Amino acid sequence: MVTASARANIALVKYWGKRDTALNIPAAGSLSLTLQALETKTSVTLGQEKDQLRLDGRPASEKATARITRFLDLLRNQTGRREHALVVSENNFPTAAGLASSASAFAALSKASCAAFEIEMSDRALSVLARQGSGSAARSIFGGFCRMHAGQLEDGTDAYAEAFEGSQIQLSAVIACTDAEEKEVGSTEGMERTKETSPYHDSWLKQVDLDLEQASEALRSGDMEQLSAVVEGSCLSMHANAMAARPGLIYFKPVTLWAIERVRSLRKAGVPVCFSIDAGPHLVAFCPLEAQSRVATELGQHPDVRQVLKSEPGDGAKIEGDA
Ligand code: PMV
Repeated sequence: MVTASARANIALVKYWGKRDTALNIPAAGSLSLTLQALETKTSVTLGQEKDQLRLDGRPASEKATARITRFLDLLRNQTGRREHALVVSENNFPTAAGLASSASAFAALSKASCAAFEIEMSDRALSVLARQGSGSAARSIFGGFCRMHAGQLEDGTDAYAEAFEGSQIQLSAVIACTDAEEKEVGSTEGMERTKETSPYHDSWLKQVDLDLEQASEALRSGDMEQLSAVVEGSCLSMHANAMAARPGLIYFKPVTLWAIERVRSLRKAGVPVCFSIDAGPHLVAFCPLEAQSRVATELGQHPDVRQVLKSEPGDGAKIEGDA
């Protein structure tokens, strides 16, 4: 048995849209922060009769298990080995809350299953592998700030993430978790619908490149004001694009808009903070560690915010027992 851990990440510059659905290649790059508080531990035991998945102590659905089988097939095809695996995965955060759990899950599974199949892989190759499980998982191979590249090659070998170096800004996160219902439209389906029907999709893709440039510049020059403008702009443009799909995708709940307003009034009051929102109703606030408690107290003041999680930047994926 091999066990690995990985932590979820939240994008500061968002990814929404694939250039190749079968290989899960993004149409544009992205930039993220890995979060220590959202951890998945996954163990892989080979030599089973069929692939099995246990998620947070229970047998997983057939659909989730089929996704794991498709992923393990990549390694079986690469090595010529035919063994099936028992995969046991535990999150230290509520899975149903839809908090980027596929990112930490596929990053941890990539690390653990490569070790189990005795395949030596660079972090870049691991990132390419993890991407085929979930686009955002490519970023959870790395700790701290991370830059994902869309690449150009048809086989997706240049669509990988890497650590983003040189930030003058240290960010922590505050996550306002709202009601944890299962998403009606998951990210893959949502991205496809947006690509096919949103009149804004092409301009969204062009905007991502500008946002990546400006966010990188803001991090390297330590300009939190510029960073906040880009982070919120990227998030709202992603949602505007999804909302413009037919039928429109609305991931926000009333409490999400409330939380946006709280973050903006904190900023008006001089607190360096900004927000981002994935394909769900939860809001993630980014701020320096000194402002974290204040932001958490503020975001906890709505009855529909069920839980407030605080996180520092997280480590990359690793085999348990390794330093
Ligand atoms: O990794 P996926 O396929 O679930 O896509 C994630 C997309 C967003 O979370 C909405 C944005 C992002 O860049 O993480």
